[in-house]
Order: sequence, then C-alpha cells, then structure tokens
Amino acid sequence: MEQYPVYRGKVRNVYDLGDQLLLVASDRFSAFDVVFQERIPGKGKILTEIAAHWFTILPIPSHFISVHPADFPEQFRNADFEGRSMLVQKAKRIDYECVVRGALMGSGYKEYASSGTLAGSPLPAGIRQGELLSNPVFTPARKNDMGHDENISIVQMEKEAGRELTQKLASLSIELFQFAAQRLATEGIILLDTKFEFGWIGEEIILIDEVLTPDSSRFAFKNDYEKAIQQGQQIPTLDKQVVRDYLESIAWDKNPPPPPLPKEIVDRLMARYETMKEKILCIT
Ligand SMILES: Nc1ncnc2c1ncn2[C@@H]1O[C@H](COP(=O)(O)OP(=O)(O)OP(=O)(O)O)[C@@H](O)[C@H]1O
Ligand SMILES: [Mg+2]
Repeated sequence: MEQYPVYRGKVRNVYDLGDQLLLVASDRFSAFDVVFQERIPGKGKILTEIAAHWFTILPIPSHFISVHPADFPEQFRNADFEGRSMLVQKAKRIDYECVVRGALMGSGYKEYASSGTLAGSPLPAGIRQGELLSNPVFTPARKNDMGHDENISIVQMEKEAGRELTQKLASLSIELFQFAAQRLATEGIILLDTKFEFGWIGEEIILIDEVLTPDSSRFAFKNDYEKAIQQGQQIPTLDKQVVRDYLESIAWDKNPPPPPLPKEIVDRLMARYETMKEKILCIT
C-alpha cells in the first residue's frame, strides 16, 4: 500500500498527497501550545464539520476540496479517517497567524494593559478586559518553527513580509471576521476573536488551515457576554476558555508536562464544542 509523508501537528495529522493534503483532526486537545493527555471524544469530527461548513459559505477562495471518503486516496477510506478528515489543496503557507480581535482578551489585553497599544497601535485609554472594540483589529503573530507563535506589531510584519502583503492579509482577515461575526450574531453569538492562515497557490492567495472553529476562535453567547461585562466578571466563552481558566486557577506555568484535566472540565469542554457545532451548522 502506498505511504504518504505525515506531519503530526498538535491537534491534526497532515498527510502529504503531493498537490493535496489530508488534514485529519484528532481528539487531542491543546492550550497554550501544549498538548494534554486527555482526549476529548468527538472533538476532531466536530472541528472538521465546523471548518468545512465555513469554507462553503465564506466569500473568499480557500483550500477546501472535500470531506467525503470517496474523494480520498484508497488507504484513507476507513473509519479511522471518516468524518474527521478534510482533503485540501496544498498551498505555500504564509507564516503568520492572521489574528483579528473584536474584543480585548488574552494576549491582546495583556499588550494593551502594559503599553496601551494593540499590535503596536495606540488604543483609547480605559478599555476594560473583554470589552468590544469599536472596530475589529488585525493583530498578527509570526509562526515560529520552534516554540510559541510570537505576537508582532503590524509595522514589524510590514518590515518582514512587505507592506503590500501585510495590508492585503489584514484586509482579507477583517473582511472574513466581519462576515462571520454578522452571521454568528443571527445565532446570538459574538465573535470575540479568531485567527486565519493564508497560503499561495501560484499567484493567488487562498484561505487555508481550519477556520472559525472553537480551537481557533473565541465565541460567547450575547446574553452571557453582556451580563458578564456589566458585572465585571470573566467572559464565559464557548471554547477553550473553560480550560484556560482552570489552568490559570491552578497557576500552571504553561510549560510541559501539562497537568491532568479533571473529568468535569473535559465534559464541559465537550458540551461547548457540541453547542458551537449545532449553532454554526445553522448558519447559511
Ligand atoms: N492548504 C494548506 N497548505 C499548506 N499547509 C497547510 C494547509 N492547511 C493547513 N496547513 C498547515 O498544516 C498544519 C496543520 O497542523 P496543526 O495546525 O494541527 O499543527 P500545529 O501544531 O498547530 O502547528 P502550527 O503551529 O504549524 O499550526 C499547520 O502547520 C498549517 O499551517
Ligand atoms: Mg495550527
């Protein structure tokens, strides 16, 4: 049987089929760039379904080809791959995570709290953690082969990648963010932040990787969000936040090995992935 080179990412296994890739989402879970021991049963299938749905409705060209096993090479037409695998066009990846923030959370808030800026650009004073920004902001991170991705300013990205490419990726990212935020709003969900990846196919820039999943985005129900903001509480996001908060509560230093996750946390995480899937699949 023919063998294909495989790259094992934190969450996905990527099989190199030549001009195409097969992205296989496992049930592994990562936070702060560390993979945990526990499996989240069903998570890989949910991520694949969510991303596939977005690719079919987003308004820009993407790498998406198919999630149907009949379209996969022979060796991948079995239960290990079914439902969790996506056949895509292989692109030359542009090595930046194109993050867009609609609210000040996580590392975006940390930058603002320490320097009053976001991706190097000043913001008005007095914005609280979790608060929505008047406009979504492009806050790139450089993908490093070793170690963690690194947040950089837009000016720094322009220096490295060129002004034209940076501006192009920023405007595509913001356009996608606004499209998705508007659609999610119809389901009562706020898109707080998300990240996109892009690649080249010849001269064309296309959207690659996963999109608008709970692994790559922060979402919150509008009602929960508004209550939390009014009461000055943590925003109850529909994604990894349940784990991030748990990890902050036990003051883990974010270096491997990861601590065990209590069953209650795993269950809450699974429920959140399920909820997000149901909501997103309703969007047209
Ligand atoms: N169409 C594509 N063409 C080329 N590379 C792609 C494409 N789609 C996704 N990728 C890359 O495939 C890999 C998917 O693996 P995954 O995201 O699970 O790994 P990861 O551990 O998060 O690594 P990384 O930090 O590189 O994203 C990523 O490196 C992603 O950039
Ligand atoms: Mg990745």
